[in-house]
Amino acid sequence: MSPPLRIFVAGATGYTGRALVQQATGSGAVVFAHIRPDSPRLAGQRAAFEAQGAQVLACPWTPEALAQALKDARPTHVFILFGSSAGSRKELRGMGRADSYAQVDEGLSRMLIDACRGSSPQPHVVYLSSLGADRPSGAYLAARHAVEAALAQSGLHHSIARPSILTGDDRPEARPAELLAGRLVGGALGALAALGWETPQARLGPMTGPTLARALLSIAQQARPGRRIVEAPELRRLGAA
Ligand SMILES: NC(=O)c1ccc[n+]([C@@H]2O[C@H](COP(=O)([O-])OP(=O)(O)OC[C@H]3O[C@@H](n4cnc5c(N)ncnc54)[C@H](OP(=O)(O)O)[C@@H]3O)[C@@H](O)[C@H]2O)c1
Repeated sequence: MSPPLRIFVAGATGYTGRALVQQATGSGAVVFAHIRPDSPRLAGQRAAFEAQGAQVLACPWTPEALAQALKDARPTHVFILFGSSAGSRKELRGMGRADSYAQVDEGLSRMLIDACRGSSPQPHVVYLSSLGADRPSGAYLAARHAVEAALAQSGLHHSIARPSILTGDDRPEARPAELLAGRLVGGALGALAALGWETPQARLGPMTGPTLARALLSIAQQARPGRRIVEAPELRRLGAA
């Protein structure tokens, strides 16, 4: 029997991260859920994750702290599942901060990739990117494109997931725009699929956090050396319950 996966999850408190921690602990993996120390969700999610059997790490986002966390945890896989949404940027503005996609989504991802490169053994990195990261337009996709490029240059074995909209009725945060977009896009694409044209729905249709988490876990379980890019249709297949 192969030893259990050891999983470090950055962005554990997000919609995808929460589902991944729950599924990974349920599958017998050893899970280290990272929560930023200034997260408004630290106390509540710490209790929830610990009840699921995960170990919570609340080290700060510094190169030294990340290097130490990886040295202690010795993960086989590191998941990069975080990013600044419009909501989290509003929250930060309320705290007097103005973090950008370049600072958070790209900068902190690069910091974690560097920590992975410096750790021994080096983990396989699973990066939650986005549909369109290969043809970036705007700051959001530019950050994802830059992180994908940094991974390509890192020498680390890695997998990249490029889903479309992540939404579902199980998303507790108020994200009316995403939910509405998901419903409109999902409805239109569902109608096309009913007419036999299934490709647009598979590629562009919304996906729930739990579906994506199942796909990411399966990607980690099948991880092989080198670089793998998984687009939305394959994520959908891998994440099917
Ligand atoms: N949502 C979509 O439709 C979509 C589509 C394709 C790709 N993606 C990609 O997938 C990622 C995750 O999506 P999601 O919907 O699962 O996430 P989410 O629910 O928006 O959660 C975002 C995560 O990022 C963390 N975060 C936010 N600001 C941060 C900061 N300044 N420093 C450190 N961590 C910070 C949050 O931590 P706290 O809880 O502490 O705030 C949380 O863990 C996105 O960021 C994006 O890169 C999203």
